[in-house]
Amino acid sequence: MNNELQARAAHVAAIRERAEAEMKAIGIDDAFIGNLVDTFYGRILAHPELGPVFDARLSGRWPEHMAKMKSFWSSVAFRNGAYGGKPVQAHLGVANMTPELFPKWLELFAATLDDIAPNPEAKAWFMATAERIAKSLTLSLFYNPAIDDPALKQN
Ligand code: HEM
Repeated sequence: MNNELQARAAHVAAIRERAEAEMKAIGIDDAFIGNLVDTFYGRILAHPELGPVFDARLSGRWPEHMAKMKSFWSSVAFRNGAYGGKPVQAHLGVANMTPELFPKWLELFAATLDDIAPNPEAKAWFMATAERIAKSLTLSLFYNPAIDDPALKQN
């Protein structure tokens, strides 16, 4: 049992070390994640469609949200377990959330990375990760079998 636990701890440590090395190689560190989250959500708030959707839900709770998003990106980048939340549940019931907002979110994220990412590889890593999560959130929040099966489409 002890051996199993040790093997597991070594495995987790190896995953974390590899993630840290991969991120370092493309110039991603905690300072950049902090800057990215601050800059991106500043732009989200200024966006005519995204801003009101976020602010309606997060009014009075922005500092908490920013801290959470920094932990989230840190844990995705460095596999350090900094974030243990449930993103799908967090997005349930956000008023005026539509599937069409996701491409706008991604466009703004890409534009932010164009302005501040340390290099193209860092931008590519954040975009690939965000696109994967956006797709999965869109499916879990909005998936409707009618999208795939024309026989289910209602007129
Ligand atoms: C149009 C797209 C999106 C909208 C409108 C949106 C909106 C929101 C809002 C309002 C919250 C706060 C929920 C609350 O605390 O009550 C939230 C949390 C969060 N969002 Fe999004 N989001 C979007 C896309 C994304 C994407 C693409 C990602 C990931 C790349 C993401 C990751 C997260 C995470 C990790 C949280 C924190 C969840 C928690 O409380 O643990 N969101 N989002």
